[in-house]
Order: sequence, then C-alpha cells, then structure tokens
Amino acid sequence: MRLPQSCSAPGSADGTGAPAVPLWPAEFRWGASTSAYQIEGAATADGKGPSIWDVRSHMPGRITGGDTGDVACDHYHRYREDIALMGEIGLDAYRFSISWPRVLPQGRGQVNPAGLDFYDRLVDGLLAAGIEPWACLYHWDLPQALQDQGGWVARDSAGWFADYAVLIARRLGDRVKRFATFNEPSVFTLFGYVMDWQAPGIMDRASYLAAMHHVNLAHGAAVDVLRDLVPGGLVGAIHNRQPCLPVSQAEADREAAAFFDACWNRAFPDAQILGTYPSALIDKVAPWVKAGDLARICRPVDWLGLNHYSPIYARADPEAILGFGWGSPPEGRPQTDVGWVIDANAFRDTLIDVHRTYRLPIYVTENGYGGTDAPDATGAVQDPERVGYLGAYIHAMGEAMARGADVRGYFVWSLLDNFEWGSGYSQRFGIVHVNYPTQRRTLKSSARWYREHIRTSRVPT
Ligand code: NOJ
Repeated sequence: MRLPQSCSAPGSADGTGAPAVPLWPAEFRWGASTSAYQIEGAATADGKGPSIWDVRSHMPGRITGGDTGDVACDHYHRYREDIALMGEIGLDAYRFSISWPRVLPQGRGQVNPAGLDFYDRLVDGLLAAGIEPWACLYHWDLPQALQDQGGWVARDSAGWFADYAVLIARRLGDRVKRFATFNEPSVFTLFGYVMDWQAPGIMDRASYLAAMHHVNLAHGAAVDVLRDLVPGGLVGAIHNRQPCLPVSQAEADREAAAFFDACWNRAFPDAQILGTYPSALIDKVAPWVKAGDLARICRPVDWLGLNHYSPIYARADPEAILGFGWGSPPEGRPQTDVGWVIDANAFRDTLIDVHRTYRLPIYVTENGYGGTDAPDATGAVQDPERVGYLGAYIHAMGEAMARGADVRGYFVWSLLDNFEWGSGYSQRFGIVHVNYPTQRRTLKSSARWYREHIRTSRVPT
C-alpha cells in the first residue's frame, strides 16, 4: 500500500494547536467507534434480555454517580440522527457492537426478531449514507443467562459464542463485510475476573485463566463461522496494546510489569495469531488447554484491530491475585483530563511493534481523549485538548507507517460521549457532545477538526 506522504514535523498547521499531519492513502479508512452497552440504552425494550452490565450497573456503589446504561445515548431510538452526524463528519466507516442479549435474550435458543431488526435498520442506514459498517460481536455485554451458567469460565461458552456468530453472520453477512470477534479480551477478563472493576466482578485466579482460554477458543470458533458464512468477509479481532512500564527499576516491579504485559498485551493476540501463549502463561493456563486447542484458536484472520490510548504502569503487589497492581505514572507527564498519560511516541512504537510481531494489516480501532467537556455560554463545545491529542496521535501513526507499519485505517473513540463503564457518564470521550437529560447532540470542535482532516488530508487521486 502507499504510505502517507510528507511526514512533516509536528507544528501547528491550522491554528488549532494540532500538529501538521501527512497526506494519507486515498483508500485509508477514517472512522469512529462505539459499543452497544455504552450507547444504545433501551435496556429492556422490545424483548432484550439482561446482560452482565445491566446487572452490575444496578448494584449499589459499582459505577460513579450510580449511573447505568439503561438510557445511555438512546441510540436504539436515535440511530438515524446518529448516522446523519456520521455523514456530517464525513466518516468512511463506523464500528459498532452487537448486543448479544438484544438478539438472544437468554444467550442461546429463542431469537428476538426485534433485536435483529434493529441491527438490520442500522446497517441499512449506514450503507445508504455511504458509511461502511464494521460489526464487533462482543464488546463486554454477556447475556446474564449465560453468566448464570458459568459465563466464560465454562468451556461450553465457545460453542454458545459460535452459535451466536452463526445467527449474526446469516442475518447481516450479506451487507456487513467487516467483522470482529472480540473487543479487548484482555481488558474484560482482567478487570472482570481479577480486579473487580468490571462485570462480572469475580476475583479469582483460576476463573481468570479459564476465561482467558475459553474466550480464545470462542474467537477461533467464531472466525471459522464468519469465514464460512460471510461471502467476501474480512474477519479480525480487536486488541488493546500499550507499553506496560514498571513504576520503578526494582526487580519486583520489573517482574510485575513483565507479567502484566503478558496478560494485558500478549495472551490473546499471541494465542490467536501466533498459536502460542506467552511463556509466562503457558504453565498457568495449561490446566484448561486440551489437545488441539491452540489450532482451534489460531485461525486465519484478515486484520488486527488495535486500541491504544497511553502507556500504563505496573507495580509489584504480593497481595494481589496475579502479583501485580496498577501503578501511577511518574510525576510531570502530560495527562488527559481523566488522568491518562499522553505519549504519541508510545503509540508510534506500539504500531511498529504490532506490525513486526503479527504481520497483519492493522486498523486502529480505538484512540481518543477522555475529558469533562461542557458547552460554553453560546452552546458550543470547545475541546482543544482533544484536537491536540488526536492531531499528535494521528501524526505519530503516519510516522509508524513511514517506518513500515501496515496501517489501513483509524477509528476515533468515540463518536458520542457515552457510558464509560465504571466511570459512568463522568468521563466523556466523544467528538460529539451528548446532553444526557435532553439527548441533544452537539459537534465538538474536535468533530469539526476531524471532518476537515478527513476532507483535506488524502493523497489526491
Ligand atoms: C476501551 C474500550 O473498548 C471502550 O469500551 C472504552 O470506552 C474506551 N477504551 C475508553 O476507556
């Protein structure tokens, strides 16, 4: 593929504070991402069943402000307006996830036709607007009915997921050609089975390791289904990856960071793409691995989705289930409003590392800035920090491409402000502001910047 041209040095090109960015191949896809539980709302509408996030968000004390995804951005009812916003911004592609309990309220068995109809309407609306739909099968909202049968800790979960993939492939595969199996499996397993920061909130080492392996098996099974049933489909999975740095040079912290890195950055893509668990995990996961499993997991995929925001920091913690804990960044590093370190060079280096390790076309399926944006007196929402962040990170992506990384697209997280898991609505990642009480959407200055970027930065054909 062609590389971005004239990778110019950072410097404000347009007066917004964002660095100048290079020109991009005409076929490069610019998009935005969301996920079902974070935006859809309509938690009990039209036959939808409960997910593990419906249950967790209603437990007292779990979510900042006691927030839930019951209404969220009400996208289930407002998707037409949201597609119009995507058109206004000029997106080439839109990544969303399908709510498993909306289409299969009990997780398997009885189908909910109204749930499938919703995704039909969404996909048709996107195609009519000239926006390519990218569907992810799992963005963390497991049907509660399956959790009650063991969830990902049960080996049967791989079969449940494959059956769900058959349903979606048969229903949408005539129009959706880009499918991802899982979003960030390392995050929902670690946060959901070790740290109790996410659903299902089980703190148990054996459950974590079992879930890790069974999610990998489910991925492999779903890849086979999607390949068989989606003509011309391009199948991938979405992984977070970020440098995992020790908080000090003490040996214990360095060892903790290395193990954190194996769990966080490698357990899933290594098994799925290289056919092996990282050496630090092989013995630990072995009790759940049966003969032939790694061949079942490592099925050919067409692309790798990379989610990246910042480096992370690890510290040794002998009391913790896995012997490591989340560390604080060193003093003085630039941070977003919600405290994530800003380091565009780490993004560039991660892209190069992912390219060299996995040798697949890369799509940046998430990158963005968490803030606390609010409208000003005129009703406008100015977010220059987000503009600066996006400009710097997109520039760094161009540098990675100039150094050989095969990056084919970029999706900002997120289209809309939305339900940010344990932080509820207190953190805003959207390029479109959502006033939750009124559901009014307002393009932030970052959305206007992104629109201009998409419009003007392609290599002329
Ligand atoms: C990762 C997740 O995929 C997404 O759901 C989340 O909102 C963003 N990153 C920001 O934390």
